[in-house]
Amino acid sequence: MCGIIGIVSVQGGFKEPIGKVVRRCLERLEYRGYDSVGIAVIKDYGIEVRKGKGKIAEVSVRLGFDNVDGTTAIGHTRWATHGKPSDENAHPHTDCTGTIAVVHNGIISNFLELKEELIRRGHVFRSETDTEVVAHLIEEYVKMGYKPFDAVKAMLSRIQGTYALVIMISTEPHRLYFARNTSPLIVGLGSNANFVASDIPAFLEFTNMVIALRDGEYGYIEPGYVYIEKDGRPVKIEERVRAISWTPDMASKEGYPHFMLKEIHEQPYAISQTLAGLTDRALDDAVKLLMDSRRIFILGAGTSYHAGLVGDYLLTELGFDVHPFISSEYRKFMNMAGQGDVALAISQSGETIDTLIAVRALRSRGVKVVAVSNVIDSAIPRESDYVIYTRAGPEIGVAATKTFTTQLTVLLALALKLGVAVGRLSSSEYSNAMDELNRVPKILDSVIAGVEGRVKALSEVMSKKQSAYYLGRGIGVPLSMEGALKMKEIAYVHAEAYPAGESKHGPIALVEEGYPVVFSILDDENVDALLGNVMEMRARDAYTIGLVPSKYVSKFRDLLNVTMEMPTLNYRVAPIVYVVPMQLLAYYTAVNRGYDPDKPRNLAKTVTVE
Ligand code: AGP
Repeated sequence: MCGIIGIVSVQGGFKEPIGKVVRRCLERLEYRGYDSVGIAVIKDYGIEVRKGKGKIAEVSVRLGFDNVDGTTAIGHTRWATHGKPSDENAHPHTDCTGTIAVVHNGIISNFLELKEELIRRGHVFRSETDTEVVAHLIEEYVKMGYKPFDAVKAMLSRIQGTYALVIMISTEPHRLYFARNTSPLIVGLGSNANFVASDIPAFLEFTNMVIALRDGEYGYIEPGYVYIEKDGRPVKIEERVRAISWTPDMASKEGYPHFMLKEIHEQPYAISQTLAGLTDRALDDAVKLLMDSRRIFILGAGTSYHAGLVGDYLLTELGFDVHPFISSEYRKFMNMAGQGDVALAISQSGETIDTLIAVRALRSRGVKVVAVSNVIDSAIPRESDYVIYTRAGPEIGVAATKTFTTQLTVLLALALKLGVAVGRLSSSEYSNAMDELNRVPKILDSVIAGVEGRVKALSEVMSKKQSAYYLGRGIGVPLSMEGALKMKEIAYVHAEAYPAGESKHGPIALVEEGYPVVFSILDDENVDALLGNVMEMRARDAYTIGLVPSKYVSKFRDLLNVTMEMPTLNYRVAPIVYVVPMQLLAYYTAVNRGYDPDKPRNLAKTVTVE
């Protein structure tokens, strides 16, 4: 929930002051948290720390980040978990001597007892954070005569909880220490500098050669050198280096006003990349596992959970015994999960702690886990038996958009292959659906071009509304849930989704004149029932908006206030395309309301604390 960066460079490694380099790297991590920010740079006289409450753009100017020169620096953009956003609680945190500085992402669960022990030993704390104990612990071990690396390792043996740490010790001006447990941390291997950061976009303009650190790993970077250890044994570096096919542009806005809009428009490309990657063995292994499964669990959080519900629909209609659940609600299945069960764990970041904890619990009961993730080598794929990667590229906007549609792409391809494997889908049904799926990138391109202007106009109306319903039937229900989540989390409209058939059982009591109701109409057996639901809402003067397949436009047009004509698609494929107008509606409604869609209040891109 925070962004951290460490850089060790050769003299003159950058054309500009290292403070400016760190600031730019932090800007690429700001989506991970943005309530305070700070940098620390090793100088001849010790460590210079500049930090404060507020966003990077404001604090970096106020404190002159860009003017700080040096070769070794760390930086942090914070998402408060312990201690309110304030100058004192901003990272980096230092020890009493000011020769040790630390940035941290995660939660040190035993920090209070450590803090009390350190205070008893005379340490003076300046913040309310858990992180600060790290700096004082290292200081204590150095005072006891430990060499810096040994002092870092001794500290690691004392702290509990989740952490990605980058540590600077001024007696070693060309080295930064790091350690990872649960919170993501990636090493970047550059020509004039090495990096360690929470996420790849931070240093992508300098290198795409990365090492994704694993839980329990620690070590250090120097210019041109990296050392990683686990349980006291060195890790073979050469086996771990990956070349990431993301370009720096992918991590920049490329002229769009917000990452979210860029990523909505990137979906045709992201889906085509994901489809291209689905020929690999991973899909076949997962199909084999699923076809022999006793029951299938599907888990995820937020948008990934909604993708999982689409997967649930696809697999249930093939006759499988499917149990979808929100990751944090895994406990109720623990007495039933066991050998022979398979779980699909869906997580774009691969770092969501709720999903990671559930995966660990399921595996401890012998359940085989197939991860569906967007980040190579992230924790959930690493702790799963199989992984199928989406290839959406970095998703910087806090709202999941392209990662959702690429998750649906993977799940549909998996379900279609599985359907044929178990004889519930004919090869012609399979090939027709796969042909359509392969055409989705082109279809989506024209849908976006065709609806964006109308959605923008519609958002003028939506931005004046306080609440909204999103209704669907069948596979249209999780699609509606995702549309509602976007509207809630980005435009702060209280949008609620539920099965349209449920309207009469209570929810319709809220409907009054002008109350917006968004209908997802798909080409399936629910069309006539949905016609009835539209009429129910119309009878109460609701403001009805319909995503309607071309073949049914004549049926619905006169009943809806707004008819958004969509291509007539196989109902299994439709959610991948129909969600996009709803993403755009949330985006433009937010912009209309004056909000920043990339940084919605109270939210962070990846939830790595329970
Ligand atoms: C979706 O727009 C949100 N950003 C959030 O619900 C997200 O989907 C959820 O936190 C799960 O994240 P993951 O896919 O990285 O596990």
